[in-house]
Amino acid sequence: MSAQTLIDTARTLVAGDKGLLAMDESNPTCNKRFARLGIPQTEEARRAWRELIVTTPGLGQSISGAILYDETIRQQKKDGTLFVKVLTDAGIIPGIKVDTGAKAMAGHPGEKITEGLDGLRGRLAEYAQMGARFAKWRAVIVIGEGLPSRGCIEANAQTLARYAALCQEAGLVPVVEPEVLMDGGHTLEQCGEVTEEVLRTVFNQLYTQRVMLEGMILKPNMVLPGLTCPKQETVDEVADATVRCLLRVVPAAVPGIAFLSGGQSSELASARLNAMNVRFKSQLPWALAFSFARAIQQPALQIWQGEEAHVLAAQQALYHRARCNRAARRGEYNATMEKT
Ligand code: 13P
Repeated sequence: MSAQTLIDTARTLVAGDKGLLAMDESNPTCNKRFARLGIPQTEEARRAWRELIVTTPGLGQSISGAILYDETIRQQKKDGTLFVKVLTDAGIIPGIKVDTGAKAMAGHPGEKITEGLDGLRGRLAEYAQMGARFAKWRAVIVIGEGLPSRGCIEANAQTLARYAALCQEAGLVPVVEPEVLMDGGHTLEQCGEVTEEVLRTVFNQLYTQRVMLEGMILKPNMVLPGLTCPKQETVDEVADATVRCLLRVVPAAVPGIAFLSGGQSSELASARLNAMNVRFKSQLPWALAFSFARAIQQPALQIWQGEEAHVLAAQQALYHRARCNRAARRGEYNATMEKT
């Protein structure tokens, strides 16, 4: 696989005003979201939900790439068409989550290390052969009493870099996702400090492991106050803190940054991304895009409720969120869009 192909794919993923749709929830995570809404936690229900998503009319206007899960990349529409083909026909590049989950880290109470490197070369070859052109790996960093530890940050950063190197060897663009969680009472300043340290360590490791920065996408958290922090900064303050942090640590060679939503409301995620693009777009070396799961899917899932009769309304809600985030990339999102 040529370096140019990786570069072209990475650039296409963040080109124009489009972004990524994460629909790669593992079965336990997907089941948890279904359970809250009383949707059956079966393979067929997960398949039906994913069929609803990939067949949403016009999705490709706003979505450049969709991240699938191992179960989903093998699934088909009711009529037998593979989801990978449905996406590709809609102009959406298929991607695949390849980590096998964040597990308790030995010697580090309260912290996690993401697993999945063993056998990864073989799995990447299989996914590439199935049509995936990019991949995702998520590391989780917790802010708490004395956390995160250096040990957790370093182990996760090195693992992310080794995953990224293997992806590029296989011709897949790595989406590198070190997520500093928003759970907790920490301040925006603390989130900024931790995010900066994490990203610095990640880029150090990406360099050490010889990852080509031009052929990757960074998927970070926004710099936010913890969910239970009494002081909740304004949208513009969050945008300023996030961009300031990224400018310090993300090399200009990286083509794009696609944020995770992390449990923010759909509207806030759009508004914050919009503010970053309004205030800074013309001065930044990389594109500021989105790679949301909950902030795109959740309103649609709540409408669907597992009912065939609700499919069209749910697709409209999904399309609407994708369109709002597309507008946010241009800096043209505003609250009145939510009323249309
Ligand atoms: P959220 O946007 O729901 O945080 O999910 C993004 C993601 O892909 C997590 O790995």
